[in-house]
Amino acid sequence: MKSLDALISAAVDHLAATRNAVALTGAGISIESGIPAFRGKGGLWERFDPMEIAHIDALVRDPARVWKLLVKDLKEIMDRAAPNDGHKGLARLEQLGILQTVITQNVDGLHQMAGNTDVIEFHGSFAWQRCMQCGRRVETRAVDASVLPPRCACGGVLRPDAVFFGEMIPPMALWRSQETTAACEVMLVVGTSAIVQPAASMPLIAKENGAVVIEINPEATPLTGVVSDILIPGKAGDIMNRILAQLENAR
Ligand code: APR
Repeated sequence: MKSLDALISAAVDHLAATRNAVALTGAGISIESGIPAFRGKGGLWERFDPMEIAHIDALVRDPARVWKLLVKDLKEIMDRAAPNDGHKGLARLEQLGILQTVITQNVDGLHQMAGNTDVIEFHGSFAWQRCMQCGRRVETRAVDASVLPPRCACGGVLRPDAVFFGEMIPPMALWRSQETTAACEVMLVVGTSAIVQPAASMPLIAKENGAVVIEINPEATPLTGVVSDILIPGKAGDIMNRILAQLENAR
């Protein structure tokens, strides 16, 4: 088995040789910013059944309950969250001309805050709420959540502009993700369990089109050893710092 240093060096070699890398990120990259992941120890789905709380049918049936158990707490955590070294590392990779696009399953806006300019929000965003009646969009931070569920001026219920289970991926996000993925030379897969489709198919599309797939994750995933060429075991912030240190050194 290769040492961590050897794995990082291998990743650095691939990154240094491309100007067309794409990142696919998941909840794991935001854990170091204080936002809980979904699966694994401490994950949200340890406390809740996602089908009871994050499915569109649950939202339509009882929006107050979904707001109370899921949305309100997440909104408060996300309002306070700031990018960590994992997000900052991806922003630096863009500045260096290596990384073109971040495809994220996260709804926290931290990649944009860190400075990445092309972020595809595959599962939408918590920064905005959408009226379930008239479709009007309002910024989440302007929403008064003291009475649940919050309502639009028209009286309709406001819901996060994010993708619930049972809903379609925003078509433009899906299309652009497939296009950028198929064209990239290196795909960095950071902090995702890679089991929720269709996001989990992006590394496969990258691989089939000749890209090198590099995972950063403390745990192995279904991609590991099958789709990904390299798994760098560790936390996103620490590993990104080590990758960047080597890349900057080599310049
Ligand atoms: N750095 C990097 N990865 C980490 C870290 C860390 N510090 N800590 C944990 N991880 C990894 C875990 O090992 C796991 O593989 O992050 C991953 C988090 O997995 P999930 O919680 O399943 O998150 P994600 O893959 O984004 O989930 C996909 O499922 O329910 C949904 O819609 C939700 O977008 C989400 C989708």
